[in-house]
Amino acid sequence: MRVLFVGDVFGTPGLRATRAYLREVRDRFDLIVVNGENATGGFGLARKHFQQLRDAGADVVTLGNHSFDQPETAELLEETRHLIRPLNYPPGTPGLGAVTLDLPAGRVTVAQVLGRIFLEPMDDPFRALDDLVEALGDEHPLIVDVHAEATSEKKVLGWHLAGRAAAAIGTHTHVQTADETIQRGTAYLTDVGMSGVQASSIGMRYDEVHARFTRKPSPRWRPAQGRATVCAAEIELDGTRARAIRRIQWTEEGDEEPR
Ligand SMILES: [Fe+2]
Repeated sequence: MRVLFVGDVFGTPGLRATRAYLREVRDRFDLIVVNGENATGGFGLARKHFQQLRDAGADVVTLGNHSFDQPETAELLEETRHLIRPLNYPPGTPGLGAVTLDLPAGRVTVAQVLGRIFLEPMDDPFRALDDLVEALGDEHPLIVDVHAEATSEKKVLGWHLAGRAAAAIGTHTHVQTADETIQRGTAYLTDVGMSGVQASSIGMRYDEVHARFTRKPSPRWRPAQGRATVCAAEIELDGTRARAIRRIQWTEEGDEEPR
């Protein structure tokens, strides 16, 4: 099974570039996972943007710490199995933290966990993954979106899944790391990177974030505009384990200078 994992789609430029990229490559992959939690102006995922990602070829869209920033997302999570939020949210949270799909290439489960370091308090992601891995019984591949801030926590979650999942791919910090590897058959990457304007402060206009660091009162942040890059990873599976992982950066045509 060939898997494409697209990193955090940020605002209109991220959506535009991701849709263009997926139009080009979607036929080469059996499963496409897209982190969409920053697609709506940086904060959450509105229904129309979820639909745009689905229409572009995303089989599963994942969320994160911004899961409920858009009021309609709770309802959307109850309506579709193609959108998931973190598995370790408290009991009673709308939607699924893991979804099993029967695709033409076979059965696969996609899950997401949220880290607890420098993020809001949350249930234990390690125990949530243990319960999931045990319930699945290693019968088919498991792809995990590890949405966390601290590199140390992502590394340890990656090792926690080593030999027990097909892939543990980091999201949330928005800068692609160069540490892709296979650990006991589990593809690992600390952060897949952001799909959006790279000449920015992790997606927001850098001049406005600069003002936030240096002045009071400070302006609101708005997503940077301009040429966007899709950050992704391509993972080749052999049964329930990974054979290879490759990082991708695909930049759309256009002016480099951000606005
Ligand atoms: Fe995030």
